Amino acid sequence: MDVHEAILRRRSIRKYLETPLEWEKIGKVVDAGRLAPSAGNLQPWKFVVVTDKEIKQMVAEACLKQYWIATAPVVIVICSENTKLSRFYGIRGERLYSIQSCAAAAENMILQATALGLGSCWVSAFDEEMIKRALKIPDFVRPQIIVTIGYADEVVPEPPKYTLTDVIFLQRYENRRKDPLGTMGFTSHKVEEAVKKSKDFLEEAGKKSDTALGKLSKRLKGEK
Ligand SMILES: Cc1cc2nc3c(=O)[nH]c(=O)nc-3n(C[C@H](O)[C@H](O)[C@H](O)COP(=O)(O)O)c2cc1C
Repeated sequence: MDVHEAILRRRSIRKYLETPLEWEKIGKVVDAGRLAPSAGNLQPWKFVVVTDKEIKQMVAEACLKQYWIATAPVVIVICSENTKLSRFYGIRGERLYSIQSCAAAAENMILQATALGLGSCWVSAFDEEMIKRALKIPDFVRPQIIVTIGYADEVVPEPPKYTLTDVIFLQRYENRRKDPLGTMGFTSHKVEEAVKKSKDFLEEAGKKSDTALGKLSKRLKGEK
């Protein structure tokens, strides 16, 4: 699966199968976080991987009682150590770069999870002090984002999203083009999916020698 497909397919999943998650897959997801961009390449993150039932339950409780979180086989708590960031960049480092760097790690992780056929969800609604107590996180460390991963036990439709036309300005804020989609050669993913389905269908039909398409495909290939 390429990145574009992973971006299109990713959905927030809040219901998971009990199937345990292979450690290789957990490793790949965490590694994707490790490789994210970070301000000054300071990589302020640490990733706490939680599989223990009781601790997951405490995490779910700390996430304002979002108990579905405990159904995920793996819960990853992305924490930041801001000492270096504030030394290098002051308040902007501590309050902004730190958050942006951890967000980049989280997005890498959930896209990697999608590419591995896993469901995931980004969770930020939690009581930081409760998370710190549950995971014995020291004072100078800040838990920032929680990512749940596992095999999905639900199919979630795509929620409404703004269109490119709604969110894009050209050169200056609020300067809209009438047709940014056409200008950028953009086709919606629904059109792309339909084209792919048609291609797959034609390819399959072409393999069957008893269909008109199959016969045509054989003739084109010079086969009898
Ligand atoms: C900063 C942030 C905080 C979020 N916090 C939560 C959360 O606490 N609980 C939750 O169920 N989903 C949370 N989400 C997931 C969003 O609800 C979800 O991304 C949004 O509804 C769009 O759905 P989609 O991810 O399937 O595109 C969060 C997402 C982001 C980026």
